[in-house]
Amino acid sequence: MDLVIRNATLPDGTQHIDIAVQHGRIAAVGVRLAVTGAREIDAAGDLVTPPFVDAHFHMDATLSYGLPRVNASGTLLEGIALWGELKPDLTQQALVERALQYCDWAAARGLLAIRTHVDICDDRLLAVEALLDVKRQVAPYIDLQLVAFPQDGILRSRNAFANLKRAIAMGVDVVGGIPHFERTMAQGAESVRLLCEFAAERGLMVDMHCDESDDPMSRHIETLAYETQRLGLHGRVTGSHLTSMHSMDNYYVSKLLPLIAEAGVAAIANPLINITLQGRHDTYPKRRGMTRVPELMAAGVDVAFGHDCVMDPWYGLGSGDMLEVAHMGLHVAQMTGQAAMHACFLAVTETPARILGLQGYGLSVGCHADFVLLDAGSTVEAIRLRAARRAVVRRGVVISEAPRAAATLNLPGRPGSVDFRLGRRVPEARQ
Ligand code: FE2
Repeated sequence: MDLVIRNATLPDGTQHIDIAVQHGRIAAVGVRLAVTGAREIDAAGDLVTPPFVDAHFHMDATLSYGLPRVNASGTLLEGIALWGELKPDLTQQALVERALQYCDWAAARGLLAIRTHVDICDDRLLAVEALLDVKRQVAPYIDLQLVAFPQDGILRSRNAFANLKRAIAMGVDVVGGIPHFERTMAQGAESVRLLCEFAAERGLMVDMHCDESDDPMSRHIETLAYETQRLGLHGRVTGSHLTSMHSMDNYYVSKLLPLIAEAGVAAIANPLINITLQGRHDTYPKRRGMTRVPELMAAGVDVAFGHDCVMDPWYGLGSGDMLEVAHMGLHVAQMTGQAAMHACFLAVTETPARILGLQGYGLSVGCHADFVLLDAGSTVEAIRLRAARRAVVRRGVVISEAPRAAATLNLPGRPGSVDFRLGRRVPEARQ
């Protein structure tokens, strides 16, 4: 075998598992496999997971924080205005360099699949060209899926629909939208219909920024689910953000959730961004703004957590760590039960993989040999510790390694080293 991982714990809690890899695929999974590997890694009981997947990101804007100035108010609308100021000065080379740097961070974090929106409202389509180039360059280690995103509105912005069609013709994978940013509710609904019809004609997936506002009357998700059903797009459509649902009337939501579930529309919450951008017009109490994650999950809807932004006009933090995203999502949604915390881990791994339609994802025999060895014993511990990625494996090759998190203590009367896992303190002999 090319690679064997010994004594791993799987995300479902199964322990003492060996994983054998050959020719870039998982060849065997089981207890004490009678095989030898050209390279063997002792997991020592640590968690092996399929790679992290970010279902919602903006790679054209990432790492541009402070260009040409910082977002003083920290609001969504100032972020959009700031992005508009930056757009004329963008160069393809700078976009590619920033995106590649982010992909380095992602690979080191075990984040090996990203769906990124790319703004198509600039007639030059510079960002589209740049990210298609990045997609080709990172293909050996990251699956990058592009969404044609009309940031300024498909109807509101001149040429946007024509640009979106050009972007799709150039190789962009998914149809985007932003109905709540159109001029009227009616125009928003019209944009959803137009874009879904276009996607149905071309056999494409849809992922719209939908109802990213605190306005409980922003109900474009209803239209998105309806159009999905009408056009037979089940399983190919995603509503991103859906923050207005946080503020909607409970009775209305009780009718809405089954419609979303029946339509097979997936949902993506972006907890780091929703918690910072929503509720900005509130005094106190301030709304959290994140969509109704546990309720959507209970209704049978696929719900993923996305990173959305890292060091860009909307958000000055982040480092490509999907465990940080899951950690925030868990807190904002108050999903603190053991099963709920595990579901938050799946919301940054298996669920977004399903939403993106990734082939060969998972830890079964025959899947791509893509996985991450974490410095944690379980999915919940991984979130608690934002665990170090001991090894990141892509197609059977270790592409990144990091040491376990540990510190050497010099406490009076308690010398030794510590890591943050229960029972793992190693005392040193007293001098
Ligand atoms: Fe977004």
